Amino acid sequence: MKRLLIFAVISGALIGVVEAQQKKAKTEKESVKEEEVLKVLKDGLSQDPRFAWKIQQDEAQRICSQYSSREEMPAQAIQRVIQLSQSEIRYPQWGIYMGDWKEGKKLVDSPRGGRFASYGFSDKPTDKGGNCYACHLIEKGMPGGTMGPNLYQYGKRWDITKENMNTPEGIEKIKAVYNIIYNSWSAFPCSSMPRFGYHGNLSPEDVANIVAYLLHPESPVNK
Ligand code: HEC
Repeated sequence: MKRLLIFAVISGALIGVVEAQQKKAKTEKESVKEEEVLKVLKDGLSQDPRFAWKIQQDEAQRICSQYSSREEMPAQAIQRVIQLSQSEIRYPQWGIYMGDWKEGKKLVDSPRGGRFASYGFSDKPTDKGGNCYACHLIEKGMPGGTMGPNLYQYGKRWDITKENMNTPEGIEKIKAVYNIIYNSWSAFPCSSMPRFGYHGNLSPEDVANIVAYLLHPESPVNK
């Protein structure tokens, strides 16, 4: 869990190392050398002030790192992570709304944003995306990962229709999904899904557009 979560905070660049370590951890716990992973992170990152914050754990991360799975977490720890995660969710300045699904699709499809390699950032500062297909199946017929659940027809699952999407009940549902994307830990504590809004990888408006992509009846997700 610790290694997976550290990964969630840093970058896709180390995904191979961390995943391999994690798989190993499941079968032979002792063989994983945590120091090795930390050394890779520290040597490369601590030299550069832009990365310094990435090796500082926040309180929620510190709690998550104590357990190797959510199932092992006591209720109190789960509650604290949810509480911390909910408390820092920021909303668009005009409140929750159904965003623009076409803009959301661009972000969902894009693997770019904040990636770095041994030589430094490999993306432009303006690049951004959620890389959602790395972990999710989303549109019909599109290849995707299976670490997270299949999101095809996600709007139908929430029963969002053109008629109800602007009602108070519809807005509540949009908000619930907004919270998941902004900070996945507010709903799924210690999840391996990145905390996109919390880390500033996506803005509140970006998140609103992604929510529209997942929920809007006209989005290809729900066709
Ligand atoms: C590193 C893998 C990963 C990435 C990248 C990722 N997710 Fe997830 N996602 C997960 C996992 C795992 C879960 C299941 C939550 C849990 O139990 O931890 C999840 C859950 C979700 C859920 C909740 C599903 C439900 O059952 O209601 C939504 C919605 C979602 N993700 C959307 C997205 C979107 C949109 C993106 C891109 C902006 C994204 N995810 C990127 C791993 C990921």
